[in-house]
Amino acid sequence: MSDALAITGLCKNFGALAVSSNISLTLKVGARTALIGPNGAGKTTLINMITGALDPSSGSIAYFGKDITKVPQAQRARDGLLRTFQVTRVFRPLTVADNIRLAVIQQRGFAMRFFLDVARDPDINQQVGEALAMLELEPLADRRIEELAYGERRLVELALALAGKPKVLLLDEPAAGVPKSESSIIMRAIARLPADLAILFIEHDMDLVFRFASEIVVLVAGEIMMVGTPAEVSADERVKEIYFGKRHNAIA
Ligand SMILES: Nc1ncnc2c1ncn2[C@@H]1O[C@H](COP(=O)(O)OP(=O)(O)OP(=O)(O)O)[C@@H](O)[C@H]1O
Ligand SMILES: [Mg+2]
Repeated sequence: MSDALAITGLCKNFGALAVSSNISLTLKVGARTALIGPNGAGKTTLINMITGALDPSSGSIAYFGKDITKVPQAQRARDGLLRTFQVTRVFRPLTVADNIRLAVIQQRGFAMRFFLDVARDPDINQQVGEALAMLELEPLADRRIEELAYGERRLVELALALAGKPKVLLLDEPAAGVPKSESSIIMRAIARLPADLAILFIEHDMDLVFRFASEIVVLVAGEIMMVGTPAEVSADERVKEIYFGKRHNAIA
C-alpha cells in the first residue's frame, strides 16, 4: 500500500528567509511520528504546507500515492487530511456539540447560514456523536466551551478534527498551554485514536513525545536533522546539544 503521506524536497521561503529546506518525510498508515525542534524551526510551517494553508516554494506532497501539491486546502480536508491548531480555535460561546457540528458542516462545504437547518440532520448528528464518543466527550456535549477547563477545550479541538474522519492527522502541540495535571487526559485520548490513522504530532514536552511516538523527526532551522526511534534520538549528541540543551540528562 502507498504511504499515507510522502513529502519530497519541500522548501518554503518567505522573501529571503528560507524557513523550510528540502524536507522529505513519509508517514505510513498507522504512523505515530513526533515532529520536534526548537521554536521557529519551521514545524507549524510544515503542517501548513501539508494541509495546503501555505504553498511550498518547491517540492511535492503525495497523499496515498496521489500528488496533492496543487490540491486546495478544503479538498484535502474533505479527503481526510486534517489538523489541529497550536492556538485554540474553538468558538467559546457555543456548546461542544455545536462546535463539532460546525466543523462537520464546514468540511462538507455548507455555508454557515445553513447551520440551523442542518442542526437536525441525522447524518450530521451521527458524525458529531461519533466524534464525541471517540474522545468520551458525551458528558460535556451540551456545555459551552467557555465553561470547560483548558485541557477539555483542547480535547474538543481534537474532536473537531476527528469529526472530519481523518486518514492523516496533524497535531500542532495539542497539549500547548495545558497544565501538566491535565495533559495526561490529552495523551490518553490520543492513545485511543484508531490504529490505522497516520499521526504527525508536534510537541515540546518530551515526556509526551516519548510516550506517544514510535518515530521522531528532528527539525532544526528548517532542515531535518535526523529521523529515528525515541532511543536513537535521545542518544544523539547533536540532538542533546541543539535541542535538549541542559535538559538532556533528564531524557537519556
Ligand atoms: N507568514 C510568514 N511570513 C514570514 N515568516 C514566517 C511566516 N510564518 C512563519 N514565519 C517564520 O518561519 C519560521 C518558522 O516558524 P514556525 O511557526 O513554522 O515555527 P515552529 O517550529 O512551529 O515554532 P514554535 O515551536 O514556536 O511553534 C519562524 O522564523 C517564523 O518567524
Ligand atoms: Mg509552531
